[in-house]
Amino acid sequence: MATPVKRIGILTSGGDCAGLNAVIRAVVLRAETLGWDVVGIMDGTHGLLENPPHVIPLRHNNVDTVVMRQGGTILGTTNKGDPFAYPMPDGSVKDRSNEIISAFKKLGCEALIGIGGDGSLAILSRLAQQGGFPLIGIPKTIDNDLGITEMSVGFSTAVDVATEALDRLQPTAASHDRIMILEVMGRDAGHIALTAGIAGGADVILIPEIPYNIKNIAAHIKALREGGRNFALVVVSEAVLSPKGGSISRNFFGGQKRLGGIGHILGEEIAEACQAETRVTVLGHVQRGGQPSAHDRLLASAFGVYAVTLIQQGKFGRMVAWKDRQVIDVPIEEAIKQNRIVEKDCTLVNTARGLGICLGDDGTLRV
Ligand code: F6P
Repeated sequence: MATPVKRIGILTSGGDCAGLNAVIRAVVLRAETLGWDVVGIMDGTHGLLENPPHVIPLRHNNVDTVVMRQGGTILGTTNKGDPFAYPMPDGSVKDRSNEIISAFKKLGCEALIGIGGDGSLAILSRLAQQGGFPLIGIPKTIDNDLGITEMSVGFSTAVDVATEALDRLQPTAASHDRIMILEVMGRDAGHIALTAGIAGGADVILIPEIPYNIKNIAAHIKALREGGRNFALVVVSEAVLSPKGGSISRNFFGGQKRLGGIGHILGEEIAEACQAETRVTVLGHVQRGGQPSAHDRLLASAFGVYAVTLIQQGKFGRMVAWKDRQVIDVPIEEAIKQNRIVEKDCTLVNTARGLGICLGDDGTLRV
C-alpha cells in the first residue's frame, strides 16, 4: 500500500530577518525527499484569516537557490495582530484564534512549522495547544535572545552588517577627528552591539545589561586621545537606558511603540563631556535586510532539514536549536520562557574588557 502523502504547513512570523527564505527552501527540499507536500501560509497567521486562506504551494522550483540568497521572506510576515486579541476596524479587540485553527485544519496539514522569535513562537504554541495540532518551531531573530539556542537565524547577518558599518565609519571618523556613535537594534539584549562592537574594533560598547556612566566613557576617550588617537567608535544598543532612566522609544502609525533614539542622546552627552565633534548613525532595519551571511544560510539549512525530520519522527511541540556545534530539539515552552540576554561575565564581555574596550561601567577605566 502506498504511503499516504503528507502535507505540512509553514509560515514566517514576527519581524523578518535574513535567512528566512533559506529555511523555507531547506524545509521544502527535505520534505520533497520524503514525498511530502508543503503549503506556505502567507503573512504569518494572517493568511489563515483571509477567505479563502492565503496560501501557496511550495515546490523546489519556487524555492530554488535564487530565493535562498534573498533577504526578507517570500511568505510575508507580521509582528502585529495577536490572534488572541486581534485589533478590529472599530477599535475593539477580538479573539480570532479559533478561526485560525479551523482554517489551518481545513488545509489538511499534518503539522505546522513556525519560523519565529519568542513572541511568535509563544502565540503559535498556544494556538497549537488549543487546536490540538502538531507544531515545530524554528528560531529566528536578529536579537538572538531566544532561550537555549546559541544562535537564531538572522543574527549572524545583522552582526555582519553592523560590523561593516563600523568598518565604514572608522575612516570617516579618522578623517574628521570625530567620535562616531552607531546605534544598533537588539531589543533588551545587547548581543548585536557586543558581537559587532568587538568584531568592528569599537572603543566603547554600551549594552542594556550594563548601565553606563558618561564619566567612564569620557575618561576612556580622553585616554585614547592622550595616546594619540584622533577618533573613537562607539556602539550603543537601542534599549540602553537614557541618563534620565528608561529606554528611548518612538511612536509609529497605529500606536506602535519601537525602541530607538538613545544614539542621539548619547551623541550629545559625549560631545559635551569630551568637547568633541560627534556624529550619530542609526542602523535600523538595514540589519534585517539584504543577503543572508553564509553562517545564516548554514543554520537555516540545518534547522529546516531537522524540523522535517522531527515531523517524520512524530516529535512535536519542539523547537530546533543550535548547541555545541549541532542541531538539537527542545520543548518550545522551555525556549520561550528564557530571555537570553548578555551575561555580565560571559566570554564576549570578558573579551571586550580584555581588549580594553569601555563598556560604560568602571570595570574598564584606563589608568
Ligand atoms: O526583534 C527584532 C527587531 O528588529 C528589534 O531588534 C527591533 O527593536 C524591532 O524588531 C523593530 O521592529 P519593527 O520592524 O516593527 O520596527
